[in-house]
Amino acid sequence: MYKGKARAYTNIALIKYWGKRDEALILPMNNSLSLTLDAFYTETTATFAEEFTEDRFFLDGVQQSKAATKKISAFLDLIRTEANCSFSALINSQNFVPTAAGLASSASGLAALAGACNEALGLHLSSEELSRLARKGSGSACRSIYGGFAEWQQGTDATSYAVQVPSDHWENDLSMIFILINDQAKEVSSRDGMRRTVETSSFYAGWLTAAAKDLVTIKQAITDKDFTALGKVTEANALKMHATTLAAQPPFTYWSPESLRAMDCVRQIRQQGLPCYFTMDAGPNVKVLCQKRDEQAILQALQANFAKEQLILAHVGSGLTALPVNNPAPKTIKECRHV
Ligand code: DP6
Repeated sequence: MYKGKARAYTNIALIKYWGKRDEALILPMNNSLSLTLDAFYTETTATFAEEFTEDRFFLDGVQQSKAATKKISAFLDLIRTEANCSFSALINSQNFVPTAAGLASSASGLAALAGACNEALGLHLSSEELSRLARKGSGSACRSIYGGFAEWQQGTDATSYAVQVPSDHWENDLSMIFILINDQAKEVSSRDGMRRTVETSSFYAGWLTAAAKDLVTIKQAITDKDFTALGKVTEANALKMHATTLAAQPPFTYWSPESLRAMDCVRQIRQQGLPCYFTMDAGPNVKVLCQKRDEQAILQALQANFAKEQLILAHVGSGLTALPVNNPAPKTIKECRHV
């Protein structure tokens, strides 16, 4: 029996990944850049054993459906090939999310799974190899291997992974406030949303040109520790990503009236002299980027418009971490094979 455990934090893209050029390999159309955050994380234990007859996947103690397990199995197959191992696995994941607001993240989930398997099977993969592996589970997961800022370089199958963005620890001065917005509208997953946009949106070509420029701008902002430049390009990039969905066929949006109210609120707080900028992903929640020194004042201003329970404060999170288990990985895995 081979067992390993790992923790990964979620990340929020400041320059978004939006569109795949290879669906099967999960190769992106553009580079993206993110900040890893401490507020949400996943801890996963992977156990591989000869006596297991099939893969099983438990999330927060509940066994998941055949369909959900199938996705995990497809990812495990990649690991089994890498490790030359044919054992089935038991995957136990726990999502640490402050409230049940639909914030479960595929980024932290797949990164933690890659890390747990790496530990269980003693693969000793480098950060880049882990990132490349996590990418094949969910694109954004490749950035959660790192703490702080990470850039996913689009590359080819062999070279498409995230790398740490040097920042001289500037990320420690930053905060992100999540505004949780519950929305009854039917969700379009990020996977389906980006596919529809790539295939049908007349704005998509413009997005790609803009994203390349935004990436240059944000890297300069990080080098210069220029918060205004960082915030401006983060907000503008998110708006451009969301604009592409309006020109898709059929058109769709992740914005709810409450999202618009939150965006407006951020603009007003900014006009009152507190620097803050928003970003949004494939859902109605709004995330507010600010400097740590202003976080309490901004939280207070937001509390005038949103319930306390809707607001979650996050700071920079660390990279993928191996956690101790009772019976650790063997030195080699040459026995991990059916005869
Ligand atoms: C809007 O990584 O969830 O959050 O690769 O299909 O699993 P798949 O998609 P996913 O997409 C994330 C999209 C985004 C932007 C981002 O995180 O960069």
